[in-house]
Amino acid sequence: MNWRVVRLDETDSTNAELARRARAGADEGLVLVAGRQTAGRGRQGRAWFSAPGQCLCLSVLLRPRVAPAEAATLPLVVGAAVAEALSPFLAPRGVAVKWPNDILADDGRKLCGILCEMGAGADGAADHVVAGIGLNVNLDPHDFPPDIVDRATSMKVVAGRDFDPDCVLDALLASLALRYGRWRAGGLDAVRGELEARDALRGRRVEMRLLGEPLAGVCEGIADSGALRLRLDGGAIREVFSGEAHLLP
Ligand code: BTN
Repeated sequence: MNWRVVRLDETDSTNAELARRARAGADEGLVLVAGRQTAGRGRQGRAWFSAPGQCLCLSVLLRPRVAPAEAATLPLVVGAAVAEALSPFLAPRGVAVKWPNDILADDGRKLCGILCEMGAGADGAADHVVAGIGLNVNLDPHDFPPDIVDRATSMKVVAGRDFDPDCVLDALLASLALRYGRWRAGGLDAVRGELEARDALRGRRVEMRLLGEPLAGVCEGIADSGALRLRLDGGAIREVFSGEAHLLP
């Protein structure tokens, strides 16, 4: 994969801007990195907080030409790629992936959020996927807004030192190129081992809402479809395709 990195001082959202460029015909491999986002977006319609100069906010354009069901496993590949890229920077502290693709430090706080958004072509195949990555690099605890300070962290907080964002960006893109190539050749199985080794949820009891219905159970890993396998309290297995799992004590 030949990445072409374009830096923007400011944009509304790198995902939104890259989707506009994708619809206008931009090639796979375009990467937008923003110094500041005025309308950064997170999963489930939430806003994404990013402190200018201390975070990496980027989106990469992928054009995998696969059926939507297969493209739906791509967020897990991006999650595995980010976790593997960050791990050497933060060792001996651990890095985990919380389904579907939050990247957590070993204290359970969130280091990085990933938002993959798909655009389908007229034939229903995935025309493009915009993979957005918001990584907290050099923030101190007082840089986080009060409502997320208990749940969020940064590479600096974890490792006790500053990082060069360009160096981290290079590592992220190299890791993603490697794993995206493996996924195109072998599907989700190509990153399954890495995901299982870093799975923050396996064996943990969680609760979540599915179309308003509350569900509680124990996570039993990730299905071939990319869904979370949940063993419900009654013993049945439920495969959950989207949502947010809240860890229970
Ligand atoms: C989440 O955890 O809710 C996902 C957050 C994704 C944030 C990144 S920052 C770069 C890219 N542009 C956006 O507007 N969102 C993603």
